[in-house]
Amino acid sequence: MAKIAIIGTGYVGLASAVGFAHLGHDVVGIDIDKAKIAKLSSGQSPIFEKDIEVFLKKSLKKKKIAFTSDYSKVAGSQFVFLCLPTPQLDDGAADVSFILESTKMLSRHLKKSSTVVIKSTVPVNTWKLVKENINREDVSVVSNPEFLREGTALQDFFKPDRIVVGCTDEVKATEVARLYKAKKAKVVFTDNTSAEIIKYASNSFLAIKLSFVNEIAAYAESTDANALEVLNAMGLDKRIGKDFLKPGPGWGGMCFPKDVSALKESAREKNVPIPLLDAALESNLKAHARIVDKCKKALGGSLKDKKISVWGLSFKANTDDTRFSPAISVIELLLAEGAQIKAFDPIVKNVENLSIEVSDDVKKNVTGADAIVLLTEWQEFKEIDPKKISDLMNQKIIIDSRNLLHKNKWEKAGFVFIGNGYN
Ligand code: UGA
Repeated sequence: MAKIAIIGTGYVGLASAVGFAHLGHDVVGIDIDKAKIAKLSSGQSPIFEKDIEVFLKKSLKKKKIAFTSDYSKVAGSQFVFLCLPTPQLDDGAADVSFILESTKMLSRHLKKSSTVVIKSTVPVNTWKLVKENINREDVSVVSNPEFLREGTALQDFFKPDRIVVGCTDEVKATEVARLYKAKKAKVVFTDNTSAEIIKYASNSFLAIKLSFVNEIAAYAESTDANALEVLNAMGLDKRIGKDFLKPGPGWGGMCFPKDVSALKESAREKNVPIPLLDAALESNLKAHARIVDKCKKALGGSLKDKKISVWGLSFKANTDDTRFSPAISVIELLLAEGAQIKAFDPIVKNVENLSIEVSDDVKKNVTGADAIVLLTEWQEFKEIDPKKISDLMNQKIIIDSRNLLHKNKWEKAGFVFIGNGYN
């Protein structure tokens, strides 16, 4: 068993800390946010993430995990994972200042011959800056990007598709790979720079794929075709793959928009621009706008003073995260068109800087509404009986941007049902 320090206890840091502790390692989570440390130490998770609190409590009880704000506590650890945020700067580039500041602070406390592992998504060659800041011959720097999805972070931690370990020192790289005890995962040993790019290229590829899917959905709607059948058949080709082929109101979250912009900016700086990334970002704005257009068309051409029930605020189901949520982008566009919005979400209680009524009571939400616009694929929405809410509405119209619901069931209840990708 290894002694591991995790710097930063956000989504990635906490999931990794809890994951490593469950695997039997001795973990210390370090974060400058003292309130968060107090919460975590008492077994409460500051984030909504499946199973994380259960695992956290178990590991606290077994004394396999502890939390502190004291950076000097890294001294007891052989492996120090950097899980700090790399937010987007105004020009689109990633801000690595948290990583660089923390490595300066860490250096003098690091154990002899320890390994610093960069897990955060960082721009190309950040590992060299980290090495410079640490400035110690005995300490190795390994790039080990995370591929955790919000909502399934622990599942992804324990059963990863692949583990990428970037470091030319084979011994150190193997030691880091072994920490995961993931017998079935493919381990990709590579150099630090390639590991950094693998993360950006993967997220950007997925974002481009989704933008294309949404473009095909729009195109199919202009014909007699059904994009869902088109995409399903495309996915049967192993080279394309069946995942990430669902049309929606656009992609979002804390990773895709930031990573696409950062790769775009980095490539531009190096004088090898990647126009596909510009196109994917532009296409994503079109995907938000298309849902608003559908709504407008269904309501006779204008949204002025129309009452819209929005279902879902988080950027996808099973998370309370509304940062860069396509649902929020669509709501902003609806508000700009003069619509009045009431939102319904099983978990999200409010959204910062957005003054709309949010409730988890569907009847309250749809009363007097001219249309429902479903924006997040919460399974809870499937349980709603359209017959029980139809009489409460002013007009029986539903726009299902995620193709989540059963069309027939809603049509039988008297609704005009508008899906995404077909007419
Ligand atoms: C993403 C990647 O999937 C992870 O591998 C990566 O580790 C993570 O970013 C990160 O960089 O930290 P996440 O942001 O949690 O994970 O979200 P995804 O599940 O990838 O979904 C991204 C967006 O695409 C969501 O808005 C989702 O609703 C949308 N989406 C996804 C679709 O519209 N259609 C699909 O078929 C799939």
